[in-house]
Amino acid sequence: MKISIIGAGYVGLVSGACFAELGWKVTCFDNDETRIDQMRQGVSPIFEPGLDDLLARHGASGHLSFQCGADAALASADLIFIAVGTPMSDDGKADLFQVIDAITQIVPHLSGYTVIVLKSTVPIGTNDKVEAMIRSLRPDADFDVCSNPEFLREGSAVQDFMQPDRILIGSNSQRATEMLRQLYRPLEMRDVPIMTVSRISAELAKYAANTFLAMKISFINEISDLSEKAGANVSEVAMAIGKDHRIGEKFLHPGPGYGGSCFPKDVSALIFQAREFNSPVTLVEQVQKINIARKLAMVARIVDAVGGELEGKTIGILGVTFKPNTDDMRDAASLTILPSLIEKGAKVMAYDPIGMRNARHMLPRVNWMSGPQDVFNDADCVAVLTEWGEFNALDLIEARGLMRGDALVDLRNVFTHERAREAGLRYYPIGTQPSHG
Ligand code: UDX
Ligand code: UDX
Repeated sequence: MKISIIGAGYVGLVSGACFAELGWKVTCFDNDETRIDQMRQGVSPIFEPGLDDLLARHGASGHLSFQCGADAALASADLIFIAVGTPMSDDGKADLFQVIDAITQIVPHLSGYTVIVLKSTVPIGTNDKVEAMIRSLRPDADFDVCSNPEFLREGSAVQDFMQPDRILIGSNSQRATEMLRQLYRPLEMRDVPIMTVSRISAELAKYAANTFLAMKISFINEISDLSEKAGANVSEVAMAIGKDHRIGEKFLHPGPGYGGSCFPKDVSALIFQAREFNSPVTLVEQVQKINIARKLAMVARIVDAVGGELEGKTIGILGVTFKPNTDDMRDAASLTILPSLIEKGAKVMAYDPIGMRNARHMLPRVNWMSGPQDVFNDADCVAVLTEWGEFNALDLIEARGLMRGDALVDLRNVFTHERAREAGLRYYPIGTQPSHG
């Protein structure tokens, strides 16, 4: 079986490289010529651990190739995956223009039986609409449309693809289901469960999974605030409840609010769809409100730590990406927090190990530093926004010596009260009361 993937972004490229790793012949199509040139040279346009190695090996073996724009080469594929973006539009619903574009591009090239697989996260009913669209444009075409949502976390996407908790197939065609099962057979042989459900269930399951995880995060963020007020330690609370298998330990880390390319847009899109179905998801609406307020509350935390006034203050920032091990800046908390600090009169000096290339043009008034210790220079306060591993290795005593002030606001609990105390820092963590040097 040959595979084509339209859209070689965070999801499409990882999926393509991993299908090649499973032994299939894959061609990735993308409209972006620069991306295609880079990938042809074995260079990944995105930062994702393990991806460079797959590109190099499978580019060289000929299992993975790249092509700009959709052309007749598509026609030779048995399965065509759509992995283009589905961003949030201004009114909060998912914008399907990239999906429609991709379908329009492939329709003229369809020949022989083809399975079109929607990997992009799409609103309920999109598989039906895509099928109807292709049917009307090419009544002669022999095809099925299936849903196969991704559950790939950026930063561990390769591992998530190769060792998933489950593979979800939404299909109403036995023939298409068999082809997808064959595609994932190497993973099934490693005991990965493959679940086949209706297309609508698969579409909704994807949104339900992401909103449930977002709900866990908003929940623990509120418990974290309560812990601070009550004198509890949120890590102890999270551990205690997480050991209950019905709750689970994952996604109970408090922080500055969830970000990234998926949770904010998927929460918003589910809220929008549920209202359209006249079946509002009020719990999820609250999750969204909590998360928006959370980012602004983090600004207030930094203002408090420097005595209530930011005018003339210098704030160092460690980490700007929405999570570690990615260069993705989409919906990162830094995009709300940093401009707000600057607006209130602060000078902001920031460092991120990988994200600065993307961040520079999104955060133009920030001073970018070349190393993590540089953000401490003359700073009144340093705030940790992303838990990159290298921050934990910082010598806080040395770093404190470079500062003008003495406040460390740790929005990811990278450091500890003990380490901050040793360095003579006032420490403002998440979910325990601050300590004052
Ligand atoms: C994916 C999804 O598909 C989205 O629905 C999911 O919720 C999150 O992950 P992502 O991989 O993050 O999106 O998107 P992005 O990194 O923006 O990549 C999309 C790629 O598709 C880009 O490289 C773009 O150039 C390409 N594209 C877009 C095409 O090749 N053709 C098009 O018609 C539109
Ligand atoms: C998410 C889904 O997890 C994945 O299955 C797929 O659907 C794509 O979207 P991703 O956005 O890459 O993955 O990262 P994820 O690890 O889920 O983190 C999302 C956000 O939540 C980040 O900002 C992260 O910092 C935050 N988060 C996560 C917390 O604040 N606390 C946690 O305990 C976990």
